[in-house]
Amino acid sequence: MTDSPAPWPAGAPDPDPQDDEALRERAVAALLTARERTTLLTDSVDDHDLTAQHSPLMSPLVWDLAHIGNQEELWLLRGVAGREAMRPEIDGLYDAFEHPRAARPSLPLLAPADARSYAAEVRGRALDVLGSTPLGGRPLLRAGFAFGMIAQHEQQHDETMLITHQLRTGPAALSAPEPPRAADAAVLPAEVLVPAGPFTMGTSTEPWALDNERPAHHREVAGFFIDTAPVTCGAYRAFIEDGGYTEQRWWTPEGWAMVREHELTAPLFWHRDAGQWLRRRFGVTEPVPADEPVLHVSWYEADAYARWAGRRLPTEPEWEKAARHDPGSGRSRRYPWGDEDPTPERANLGQRHLRPAPAGAYAAGRSPFGAGQLIGDVWEWTSSDFLPYPGFAPFPYREYSEVFFGPDHKVLRGGSFAVDAVACRGTFRNWDLPVRRQIFSGFRTARDA
Ligand code: AVJ
Ligand code: FE
Repeated sequence: MTDSPAPWPAGAPDPDPQDDEALRERAVAALLTARERTTLLTDSVDDHDLTAQHSPLMSPLVWDLAHIGNQEELWLLRGVAGREAMRPEIDGLYDAFEHPRAARPSLPLLAPADARSYAAEVRGRALDVLGSTPLGGRPLLRAGFAFGMIAQHEQQHDETMLITHQLRTGPAALSAPEPPRAADAAVLPAEVLVPAGPFTMGTSTEPWALDNERPAHHREVAGFFIDTAPVTCGAYRAFIEDGGYTEQRWWTPEGWAMVREHELTAPLFWHRDAGQWLRRRFGVTEPVPADEPVLHVSWYEADAYARWAGRRLPTEPEWEKAARHDPGSGRSRRYPWGDEDPTPERANLGQRHLRPAPAGAYAAGRSPFGAGQLIGDVWEWTSSDFLPYPGFAPFPYREYSEVFFGPDHKVLRGGSFAVDAVACRGTFRNWDLPVRRQIFSGFRTARDA
């Protein structure tokens, strides 16, 4: 495995040795937090549920578990420490590009007990490597990047596994406390103005930012209005009840084809019973809450809703400017509230609650413009294709981002309740096909100023 040149600013100094210990602690904490979540997601169901295919869209949970261990072995043990492969015969099974998700249940996968002990053994050795390797020098080790990348990778699969839990039928296996209520939803304006002007998009300084977030660059953005909160289930229900899914005029040709082919009438997991909309959420059926951001809509549905509402989806630069630009200093910040890390008061992250908070919650997380819930709650579809920034360089492997660039994938921003803070920031970019709705996706709308 070779290190590609890192897309860090040329000539920037390595973090000073004093920071080394802090970075190491941060990496250890991120790895432990991720493993706690992985363990919960895989210990809360039995072996049958771990190996079953709950949807052709998803891997069996036991595949995610061993894949997490295999990627960690690949990057931290073999890549960073130059060790020999522990079980070379399994690499192909856990290479996401070799077997599509639907084919994974029929592979000779490690059985649950074996997958658990493999992941645990890799982790033990990886922590030893982290404790004994100087951070810096090679691009892969700069600011502990490889360790941060692997913690993010595990958390991304923890979100994927939570999607599998949501698709799984049968009694509930997971529970969590309710998210905070919205204190002042009634006084929130529906939208806020983001005035025209340049801003800095992306980052060259965030130590664990992934390749597609780099480098920082200037963007001119025309003035626009953007919703202060994600579109709610109640607002989305008005679209449904106004014939949203039966009128072709709101849809792109591809979106309309999807509606017709799958006879869509509502977001995934919704159904109508005696005149009431109900939804299934982690094994429990409940009334659809009117004030909660809508979840499980495809890009085509988000786009159609926006057209029906006389609005549009925000572009990716618009979303990031609304989330990061500080009109006082002219600077782009790490998060809507500033540069400090997320806290439970600022954002609904980390599977702490197993649902989005009502629109208007998290007043402490709002941007200077007054837009809220940009981070956490629901992934937000943007109108933009997933494309490289000017100056993009693949790092450390082409298959993380580069092979997905192009018009097939749409960008989602901001993270959901299911993603951990380590894999969520103002610059973080997610992407998926415009037909996907099993993901924790919602949206907010915008319009030209
Ligand atoms: C960035 C969420 C689209 O799940 O396909 C996991 C993350 N990449 N393993 C995905 C990822 C490699 C990726 N997404
Ligand atoms: Fe992966």
